Amino acid sequence: MCPPHIFMQLEKLTPVRVVKADNCILCGHCVDVCPVHAIEHSEIPYEKVHKIDYNNMPSPEQLMNLLHARRSNRTFTDRNIQDDAFEQIIEAGYYAPTAVNNRGVKIKVVSDPEKLKQVLDYVLDTFGEMAKKMRESGEESSADGYFGAAMLEGLVKAAKRGKDPILRGAKYLMVFTSNHKMGLRDCQLAYQNSSLMAQALGISQVYLGYVCNAYEEGDKQKLKDILGVEDEIQTVMALGIPAFRYTNYTERDF
Ligand SMILES: Cc1cc2nc3c(=O)[nH]c(=O)nc-3n(C[C@H](O)[C@H](O)[C@H](O)COP(=O)(O)O)c2cc1C
Ligand code: SF4
Repeated sequence: MCPPHIFMQLEKLTPVRVVKADNCILCGHCVDVCPVHAIEHSEIPYEKVHKIDYNNMPSPEQLMNLLHARRSNRTFTDRNIQDDAFEQIIEAGYYAPTAVNNRGVKIKVVSDPEKLKQVLDYVLDTFGEMAKKMRESGEESSADGYFGAAMLEGLVKAAKRGKDPILRGAKYLMVFTSNHKMGLRDCQLAYQNSSLMAQALGISQVYLGYVCNAYEEGDKQKLKDILGVEDEIQTVMALGIPAFRYTNYTERDF
């Protein structure tokens, strides 16, 4: 049960010993598994240990229903998302696993319209530069043929016509950051937890891959400064109350 095997029983019917306690990753499995609180962990006080209500679990059918309902609904309205909803969405993210329980993920909500405009401009400027370089080098399409100069220029042109093909007019962004070497994976898992909680609250979210692409290719510090984060930006979510709910879902082949 203890990932780094800190509890050792060298022989049957002898007391369990604690060995190499420094290897503890603070996962809490030892205190969470013991029904009679026999394990005292100096870093995990009992006030923080809570009973799981197994009578109040979503059924597999209910969970699958939520997974079917979760869609990238980009029809964000002007309606506000309440603070307590954000708290639940963020809390859900923090319950995702992280590599060696590093818990390096940080989740931040950004809603200042001026900052959002700066993010949009940052992405468009970076895409414009990328397209220019592609044209100059003669390599106008990417390996997968999708992320090429024409596509990037198309996004910039759409924005000039007054559309927002990047943030989709969202009033809220949620930024997932981590400096851990597994930070991208950690943030993706946190993202998915948060997206499911958002869906459960009737809030739509869209994964902003374009912002991530621009960050990877552009001036990283500039986007960090705009968003007010210090750690590496791993993924970004747009959120909002959608104009409608999808009535149906389409079966996926697997
Ligand atoms: C890694 C990743 C990047 C994405 N980037 C964008 C994006 O930049 N803009 C956007 O509108 N949707 C983006 N999406 C949403 C996908 O287009 C969407 O998940 C997919 O079409 C399936 O639709 P569904 O989420 O409604 O099931 C992204 C999704 C993922 C997983
Ligand atoms: S909290 Fe530490 S001692 Fe307890 S199970 Fe996790 S790694 Fe082992």
